[in-house]
Formats: sequence, C-alpha cells, structure tokens
Amino acid sequence: MAEALLDVRNRPKDVAYALVLTTVVQLLGDVDDEIAAMATITSVLHHGFGFLWTGFYRVTAPNVLRPGPYQGTVGCLEIAFGKGVCGTAAAERRTVIVPDVRRFPGHIACDPRSRSEIVVPVLDRAGALRAVLDIDADRTGVFDEQDRVGLELLMTWFSRPR
Ligand code: SME
Repeated sequence: MAEALLDVRNRPKDVAYALVLTTVVQLLGDVDDEIAAMATITSVLHHGFGFLWTGFYRVTAPNVLRPGPYQGTVGCLEIAFGKGVCGTAAAERRTVIVPDVRRFPGHIACDPRSRSEIVVPVLDRAGALRAVLDIDADRTGVFDEQDRVGLELLMTWFSRPR
C-alpha cells in the first residue's frame, strides 16, 4: 500500500500534485468504484495539503448536487446547478477558482472560515457530469492555475479507459 500519510504542504505545487496523483493511483489499484475513489482522493488531498474542507458533490438528479465523500465541517445537503461556486462549476462544466469568497456573489458559506475555493467538474467516460470536487482553504488566494491543472488531471481518474 502506498504512503497514506502524504504531506505535500512544503512542496512546489507541481511536485505536490504529481505525488498526490501517484499516491491515489497506487492506493486505488484496480478498484473500480466511484465512491471509494472519491473518499480516497478526498482523504489524500485534505491531509496532504491541510485544506479546510475537501470533498465531492454528486449529481443525484437533474441539476441537483448532493454531498458525496468529504472531510471537514457539515456540508450543504443540496445545491442547485447555478447556485454558489459548486452550482456554477456544475452548470458551466468548468473549473471555478475563487480567490476571495466574500467577493463571489451567491457564495454558499458552509464553513464560515472559508476564504478561498476551487471547484472542478468530474466527468465520466461518456462526458457526463458526475460530480464536482470542492476544496476550501482558510486563507485568500490559495488556488491558482497550478491547482486547476493538477486537480483536473486527478479528476481524469473518473473518465479513464477501463
Ligand atoms: N462554498 C460552496 C458550498 C459548499 S461548502 O463550501 C462545503 C459553494 O458556494 O458552492
């Protein structure tokens, strides 16, 4: 089993995401289970980077997101497409980076300590939106293009050929 207590907080982001990806792939092996993958990815990212809130919102009905595996304080139980950062990323099927959540109209504050956020769409092999990955940090300006690239690559696990 790969090192489960990966700590990438002092690594350059490109190295950090490469280590996270390698760890996740090793941990999952040939497991073909979406929820197991979401839980594993959540744990590795959350503890690896020391984020405030890390997890998935799944598409459970047309235009509705509900929590999947996550680590952090209690998440919202329902987010409509178009609402908040998660709903915006889901509706537009694109990664949304919010440097300061206080400046994002309609931001949904599940944890009031959140200051910046990134939300990445999760697509399956058919190109259907399955979920979004939501990460919150307790400082402003934590997420940038390197996070987008690293996390979008990580999310290709869900669309990988089998
Ligand atoms: N802030 C998110 C809601 C989810 S919590 O951060 C866990 C949003 O605006 O969509």
